[in-house]
Amino acid sequence: MPALVLVGAQWGDEGKGKATDQLGGSVDYVVKFNGGNNAGHTVVIGDDTYALHLLPSGILSAGCTPVIGNGVVVDLSVLFEEIDALEARGVSCAKLLVSADAHLIASYNRTLDRVAERFLGKRRIGTTGRGIGPTYADKMNRIGIRVQDVFDEGILRQKVEAALDMKNQVLVKVYNRKAVTADEVVCELLSYVERLRPMVADTGLVLSQALDRGETVLLEGGQATLLDVDHGTYPFVTSSSATSGGACTGSGVPPNRVDKVLAVLKAYTTRVGEGPFPTELTGADGERLRTAGDEYGTTTGRPRRCGWYDAVIARYAARVNGVTDFVLTKLDVLTGWEKIPVCVAYDIRGQRFDEMPMTQTDFHHATPVYDYLDGWTEDITGARTLGDLPKAAQVYVRTLEQMSGAPFSSIGVGPDREQTLELRPLL
Ligand code: GDP
Ligand code: IMO
Ligand code: MG
Repeated sequence: MPALVLVGAQWGDEGKGKATDQLGGSVDYVVKFNGGNNAGHTVVIGDDTYALHLLPSGILSAGCTPVIGNGVVVDLSVLFEEIDALEARGVSCAKLLVSADAHLIASYNRTLDRVAERFLGKRRIGTTGRGIGPTYADKMNRIGIRVQDVFDEGILRQKVEAALDMKNQVLVKVYNRKAVTADEVVCELLSYVERLRPMVADTGLVLSQALDRGETVLLEGGQATLLDVDHGTYPFVTSSSATSGGACTGSGVPPNRVDKVLAVLKAYTTRVGEGPFPTELTGADGERLRTAGDEYGTTTGRPRRCGWYDAVIARYAARVNGVTDFVLTKLDVLTGWEKIPVCVAYDIRGQRFDEMPMTQTDFHHATPVYDYLDGWTEDITGARTLGDLPKAAQVYVRTLEQMSGAPFSSIGVGPDREQTLELRPLL
């Protein structure tokens, strides 16, 4: 079996962590290929709940090797905090591999993320404040610090000094903050060297050799399609490539080794932070969805904005990612509505759009064209096959599938590993 990719189809928090965890038992490697500790994945296994940020969700599956790929940005303090917290709960992180080419989040980039947002005021993005954007900007600007740099103190110091030449000007003159010394940055990064050394590998080579041996590699995306820096609702996006193309650049696994692209899709829609959201419900209905779905951020605790299912977005995700299978999640959250609106197209200044409009301006003016499907009142959290669902829930699923551009292979009816209906095998 070659490589599989798993991405988010909407604006994140679709339940990628649960899906990866479910597949983790059957794959040999789980690779996080983008993002950093802006991600938050909640995985429920029986009575235990785990909140993961930087580590791939595959860390919870004993048999598989978790990998932090070259496309990830790593905050070393968060990495070791997360490892310590998991090990204290009996989860071994001994097999974790970290790419030598992954970039490191330095303290000045955490500071810059937060002050830049404050300066943007009304135009802010609503970032997680973890230094993600400035670290990717440094990577592209060729002043980034990589994991491998901490093993050569001379090089590390040169790179930090070069970065600070520019950063301190901005920190002091633009944002009115204190300058940072190269010493403090270098000292902090070097303090992790001995713990980090055994984990660091040429992960692209490791994965290529694993695939040659016939092993299975799952490439797990953080964030989601509409937060992708190229294909998302720019500028209200994260700063990495969260779509399936990013899986290749962020892991070193080439496209012709990828066999399947799975995309996780919530049965309704949520978004955290700023930016357009055509099906958003700002009143009591939005509050009702938020409460039923427990829609509060795993990373920042912020209430997630909630709205109805948007088939235009699903079709876009299917196209941009080349989705072979959708994993529909949180169907149980919709129990109890008499009618459930589903957005089938947009109305933009009187014109119907069945696909995403070309420009940001048009997307900001999109109002949903709704179909109204029958709801159901029965508790569906115990369902294990499609036939166990009430007729209206079956119709809801099949109607969404027809309009979304790829088959639905799995349906979530609760947060637990077991609360899943498998319509066809994902592997
Ligand atoms: P991720 O970022 O895509 O991994 O998603 P998050 O973990 O941030 O958010 C998804 C939330 O929904 C988590 O709290 C999961 O435990 C929960 N969840 C996942 N699938 C289901 C489901 O089918 N039903 C319900 N009720 N909760 C789910
Ligand atoms: P998972 O992997 C939801 C959002 C932030 C903000 C924008 C940019 O759990 O689905 P950043 O800190 O990345 O520069 O913030 O992206 N965002 C997420 N929203 N789920 C996530 O991750 C997110 N990661 C970033 O809220 O709007
Ligand atoms: Mg999340």
